Formats: sequence, C-alpha cells, structure tokens
Amino acid sequence: MKDNFKALVVREENGEVSHAIENISADMLSEGNVIIKVAYSSVNFKDMLAVQTKGGVINNYPMIPGIDLSGTVVSSGSDKFKEGQEVLVTGFQTGMTHTGGYSEYARVPAEWVVALPEGLSLHDAMVIGTAGFTAALSIMTLESKGMSPDKDQQILVTGASGGVGSVAIQLLKESGYKNIHALARDESEAEKLISIGATDVLLARDVLPEKPKVLDKQKFHYVLDVVGGEVASGLLPQIYYGGSMSMCGNAGGIKFNSTVMPFILRGVSILGVDSVNFPIEERDAIWKRFAGEWHIMSQAIAKDVVMEELSEVFKNIKAGTHTGRHILKIV
Ligand SMILES: NC(=O)c1ccc[n+]([C@@H]2O[C@H](COP(=O)([O-])OP(=O)(O)OC[C@H]3O[C@@H](n4cnc5c(N)ncnc54)[C@H](OP(=O)(O)O)[C@@H]3O)[C@@H](O)[C@H]2O)c1
Repeated sequence: MKDNFKALVVREENGEVSHAIENISADMLSEGNVIIKVAYSSVNFKDMLAVQTKGGVINNYPMIPGIDLSGTVVSSGSDKFKEGQEVLVTGFQTGMTHTGGYSEYARVPAEWVVALPEGLSLHDAMVIGTAGFTAALSIMTLESKGMSPDKDQQILVTGASGGVGSVAIQLLKESGYKNIHALARDESEAEKLISIGATDVLLARDVLPEKPKVLDKQKFHYVLDVVGGEVASGLLPQIYYGGSMSMCGNAGGIKFNSTVMPFILRGVSILGVDSVNFPIEERDAIWKRFAGEWHIMSQAIAKDVVMEELSEVFKNIKAGTHTGRHILKIV
C-alpha cells in the first residue's frame, strides 16, 4: 500500500459542503479488517447527494464518498479473504459514514465484502454497482408477487434512462420478458432504450394524468419504480387488479400521494426495495447471476470517467440529464 494516494474528499466548512481531489494517507480511511486496492467505483444518485450541502447522505466530515467499489485485496484480517483476491463492495455504510470507493485504497469490514464471482470482471461489477444490484432486487421482489416471463403481462420501468432503470430494462429483456415499457421524460432517449431491450418508450407527459385519479384505466400489471413522487402517485391507480409496484427511489421526490382504493378494491401491492442493508449472506447468489444469465454489461449504457470528471457527472445527475451508468476508473 502506498503511503500517499489520491482520493475525492468531501469537507464541510461553515455549513457549506465542497469536494476536491486530495493526496491522503491511510490514517484518513475508516476502520476495517480488509484493505482493498480500488480498481473501479461507480456513480449513483446517492453519490451525487453525498457531495451536496444538506444532501442527507454524509454527516461526519471529512468523508470519502463512493458507495460502490471493486478491487484487489491488499491485506486481510479475515479468513474469508486473502491477499490478491478480487472483490467488490456495495452499500452498507460505504461512502456514507465509512470512507468509500472514490479513493485508490479502501478499508472495510469483511462483513461488507463479496468475492468477485468467476465470469465477472472488476469493471463489469461496477457497470452493475448499486444501481444494477437494486434493479435485480426490484425484479426479484416483483417476481415474488407473480411477475413472470411466462405470463402475458405489461411491465413498466420508470426513470428508464437512469442507472437503476436502464439496468432493469436489460435484466428484464435478458430474463425473457416481452412487454417491457420504459417510462422516460424525454423522447431523445427512446432509441437507446429500445436498443437495450425496451418494447416501447412511453413519455411521462402522456402516461401521467395532470391530477391522479383515485382509480384510473388499468394498464400495467407490474411497475418497477425508481422515481417516486408524482410519477409513483400517478401510476398506482393504473395498476391491474392483483398487480404490484416496487419502489426503490426518490429521484422525483419523497412525497407520494394515494388513496386506499388501489389496495382495497384492486388488491394492488407496494413492495419496498433496499439494497444498502440487504443481507451479505444472500448477495453472492445475486452477483453470480450477473456473471451468468444476467451478463448484460457489454450492451449497458455505461461510460468510464476519471476522478477529475466526477464533478461534471454529479452536476448532470442533479439536473436529471444524466443517462445510464458512469464507471470511475481508479487504476
Ligand atoms: N433503495 C435502494 O437501495 C436504492 C438503490 C439505488 C438507487 N436508489 C434510488 O433510485 C433512484 C434512481 O437511482 P439512479 O442511480 O438510477 O439515478 P439516476 O441514474 O440519476 O436515474 C434516475 C432517473 O430518474 C428520472 N428522473 C430524474 N429526476 C426526475 C424527476 N425530477 N422527475 C421524474 N423523473 C426523474 C430520470 O430518468 P428519465 O429521464 O428516463 O425519466 C433519471 O435518469 C434514486 O432516487 C436513488 O436514490 C435506491
């Protein structure tokens, strides 16, 4: 491990939060029994929030953000991992209260680390990252309520051009689903979304009523929602009898309005999805699916960036103009 290395550091002064690339030493890394030489990280919505004043993600400064990382073990105090082994980390407190992936080195508890499965590269793992992992969890939870590629069902993915949404479309396509509708705000994304597996692209202004009805015409059996806010409010009354909506995000706001009617008259379910504290024991099996049946990385909407380009990516995510996944190349 080098004595001094590069990291993106978020600092707070007089209530204002700023970030900059700094030359730091291992003293600045949070405690943990596994040290990882980071190869790649990625940029998620939450990483953008982490560098904002009152972003609600970091509360102890200075902090190194980056909720995802992949790399090689440099030293390990755990029997589960050995020096030279390739691993990945997503979620838990990484990049929040514990220094994260926007650094040449990371130090984390072994309980957060997943061994990189055979068939997946360190770069592949970050094309997926928290966004893709959350897309997978959303699909799995909808499947637990009856969504199936063997049935003739209409499936809608919201926030389709973003990280979670675009990977969700690819995973649904790869799993054999047929009626995959992508909800986007801008038609310029349509061609790209169809190329990754969407059957068609619906524009939010055409699908969402100005004022949500208590019960609307039934159009979708399953909705994989990443946007929340008015988007989720407008879609819930459009879900078929017995259908479900998974909710993982708040890109469109944390408030959500509904009456009890979709639940008590149509038996509709809302299914919450959390990737952050998802049990470590169950993660290996999901990452192995990304190495096999869900190996979608070569068609993903993904772009590599270096640390110097992160501020621009954060700006675009904040403005809602960013598309797909951004992979931070550390090496
Ligand atoms: N629960 C969890 O464990 C978990 C894990 C990962 C992410 N998330 C959450 O999931 C959401 C998406 O994350 P991400 O990394 O995919 O973000 P992202 O890449 O920025 O994608 C979000 C997408 O939502 C749409 N959108 C953005 N602002 C909007 C607005 N004001 N109104 C309507 N639509 C808007 C945009 O898609 P279009 O332009 O196509 O409409 C955008 O591309 C975030 O809220 C994030 O915090 C939660």
